[in-house]
Amino acid sequence: KKAEPLRIMISGAPASGKGTQCELITDKYGLVHIAAGDLLRAEIAAGSENGKQAKEYMDKGKLVPDEIVVTMVKERLNGPDSQEKGWLLDGYPRSSSQAIALKEFGFQPDLFILLEVPEEILVERVVGRRLDPVTGKIYHLKYSPPETEEIAARLTQRFDDTEEKVKLRLHTHHQNVEAVLSLYKDITVKVNGSASKQDVFAQIDDALTQLQEQKQGKLGTV
Ligand code: AP5
Repeated sequence: KKAEPLRIMISGAPASGKGTQCELITDKYGLVHIAAGDLLRAEIAAGSENGKQAKEYMDKGKLVPDEIVVTMVKERLNGPDSQEKGWLLDGYPRSSSQAIALKEFGFQPDLFILLEVPEEILVERVVGRRLDPVTGKIYHLKYSPPETEEIAARLTQRFDDTEEKVKLRLHTHHQNVEAVLSLYKDITVKVNGSASKQDVFAQIDDALTQLQEQKQGKLGTV
């Protein structure tokens, strides 16, 4: 019998490095990455009714209503790939109502990763962030520059990545973070997110390796 797959949540302020660490985690652990923000941007790109509504909130840096977000995330968690490989939930839950909804649907994480980054660093990270529309990879003009001229030429910027909008997003984050954290206290691992991308990953990798060993150990004693 195989050990149960990992179920992980990752949280932190805007531009704290969630997406960047998720790339590294999925490469090594093969979990299904479910990012609430990415799912919403896909709805916007598809021009759906949910996407149109979501965009109004995202433009203001506010939380998109639960009616839209909760169902979207639940469907991805229920997918056969997430069930089989385990999941890595990024940017959800952002309120106690979202956390409670998840619990009611029977989804319980093993570990809650919190990326801690001082505020002054966050703004610089947001303003310099670029995305590769072809590979989906996250870059930063200074900290993670594109590998080739060809990639550099096609990089895009997110519509909410301005200094003004990140301040609104930060405000929303501060309003909600304590309520969410208090629900996951027992399984939270705090990570210093201001280190280099590799050093941040080393901290997360340690926690995940330990968790995996625990899960396999449990199996051995049955
Ligand atoms: P979302 O897309 O989740 O945005 P966010 O939370 O603001 O987080 P970001 O994606 O901006 O940052 P990140 O932490 O992934 O950082 P990254 O790795 O890219 O949400 C957007 C909006 O959608 C919300 O405002 C809300 O309206 C809505 N929404 C989303 N979820 C919702 C929910 N559950 N409920 C309701 N509404 C919801 O890194 C940032 C930059 O820094 C990059 O350029 C990267 O290269 C660089 N970088 C990363 N790590 C390092 C490092 N260690 N050193 C130096 N540079 C680094």
